[in-house]
Amino acid sequence: MAAGLLMACILLLVVSVKGFVVDEAMTTPKVNCVDTDNCDFLNVTYHICNDVQLAKEHCKLFCRLCDAVDGYWSDWGQWSGCDVSCGKGTRSRVRLCDNPAPTHGGDDCAGSKDEHDVCVLESCPGMFNFELTTIESTVIFNAVFSILDNITLVSYSLHVDGWDNWSAWSSCTVTCGQGLKNRHRACNATMGTMLGGGCIGNDQEQIACNMTSCDVVVLFYARSPTDRSISSNEKIVYVTVTTNKGGGYNSSNGVFTAPHNGLYLFTSHTCVYGSNYAYTGIVKEGTVLQQSASRSINYEECNSIQAAVELGVGERVWVQGTSTSTLYEDSLLICSFSGMLIN
Ligand SMILES: *[C@@H]1O[C@H](CO)[C@@H](O)[C@H](O)[C@H]1NC(C)=O
Ligand SMILES: *[C@@H]1O[C@H](CO)[C@@H](O)[C@H](O)[C@H]1NC(C)=O
Ligand SMILES: *[C@@H]1O[C@H](CO)[C@@H](O)[C@H](O)[C@H]1NC(C)=O
Ligand SMILES: *[C@@H]1O[C@H](CO)[C@@H](O)[C@H](O)[C@H]1NC(C)=O
Ligand SMILES: *[C@@H]1O[C@H](CO)[C@@H](O)[C@H](O)[C@H]1NC(C)=O
Ligand SMILES: *[C@@H]1O[C@H](CO)[C@@H](O)[C@H](O)[C@H]1NC(C)=O
Repeated sequence: MAAGLLMACILLLVVSVKGFVVDEAMTTPKVNCVDTDNCDFLNVTYHICNDVQLAKEHCKLFCRLCDAVDGYWSDWGQWSGCDVSCGKGTRSRVRLCDNPAPTHGGDDCAGSKDEHDVCVLESCPGMFNFELTTIESTVIFNAVFSILDNITLVSYSLHVDGWDNWSAWSSCTVTCGQGLKNRHRACNATMGTMLGGGCIGNDQEQIACNMTSCDVVVLFYARSPTDRSISSNEKIVYVTVTTNKGGGYNSSNGVFTAPHNGLYLFTSHTCVYGSNYAYTGIVKEGTVLQQSASRSINYEECNSIQAAVELGVGERVWVQGTSTSTLYEDSLLICSFSGMLIN
């Protein structure tokens, strides 16, 4: 081994003197492989062989660089797949410095051994964002499109009124008791359809409506007028009220005002005493419905009259004197006015 190395050194020494070299392994002489400077000097002062570039220019032979081969790239390899599954990503490819590879001190290939590129797949689901804001009755689409360019993301905004205004509330679905009121609105989908979502929310709305209870009770009973000397057409005011369901009877003026539509039955009971007369009638808005007369001679005398009548809300009924009358009440006799809603 040591002998081999020594032989090589001698051989090199010999060829360097002759001005050409024969490679140990090859037989082709390298005629251009010469030194252009004082390489011994450069080796001592500068270690020229450690600087391959300079050594190749000036001391090719001295530094044993006659067989140096620079490297060259092979063709690029295949592109890799995109490193994302949607949207914008990166792909890459590599090349090898093996065509040929640098040997015996030859240059490495110049440039990068790998390359990167933008790759664009289908937009990701999240790339299209929109939010909805409800302002009063109108839904506003704040749509942001993110359109994927090779390099930049471009954003657009659209403002679209989705809903038309609500309609007015319908009337209550019932006339008494608890019902429902409805309202509706139309989807103005000119843009909503394009966005794929249409209008968000309901196009119908309901709320409860409270009409008066269906099992209405109207019933009053009033008695004991304090003013018992009644002239013709004067209303009799029964001041003691024992029942007034529905609140129709007014003990200040003796008038019953219908709180509901319906069929009513009224009764009036009138007494006289001594040598007196009582002429009374049940009257609806000035029209006498029923009337009677009582006359007493030293004894008590009473009579009752009834009237059935259909009333609309607000129509009034009372008892009045149909002629001059003198009423009477004591612990045995009662003058009264009563009424009820039958249907
Ligand atoms: C260069 O110099 C070093 C000592 O500095 C020596 O060992 C080496 O053999 C020299 N190289 C050549 C090719 O003469
Ligand atoms: C996107 O990249 C492709 C392929 O690299 C190219 O052909 C195209 O012109 C680019 N488009 C834009 C908008 O830069
Ligand atoms: C909808 O309601 C808004 C707010 O009350 C009102 O300004 C607008 O005029 C209404 N639009 C229509 C078409 O009635
Ligand atoms: C839909 O909205 C647009 C813009 O606000 C309006 O011009 C159009 O009349 C609306 N269409 C309907 C059916 O309400
Ligand atoms: C409707 O009226 C009834 C009886 O007064 C009451 O109990 C109920 O809470 C009312 N409903 C509404 C929605 O106001
Ligand atoms: C009852 O009648 C009096 C006298 O007419 C009137 O002032 C009052 O407002 C009436 N009350 C009701 C509850 O209608």
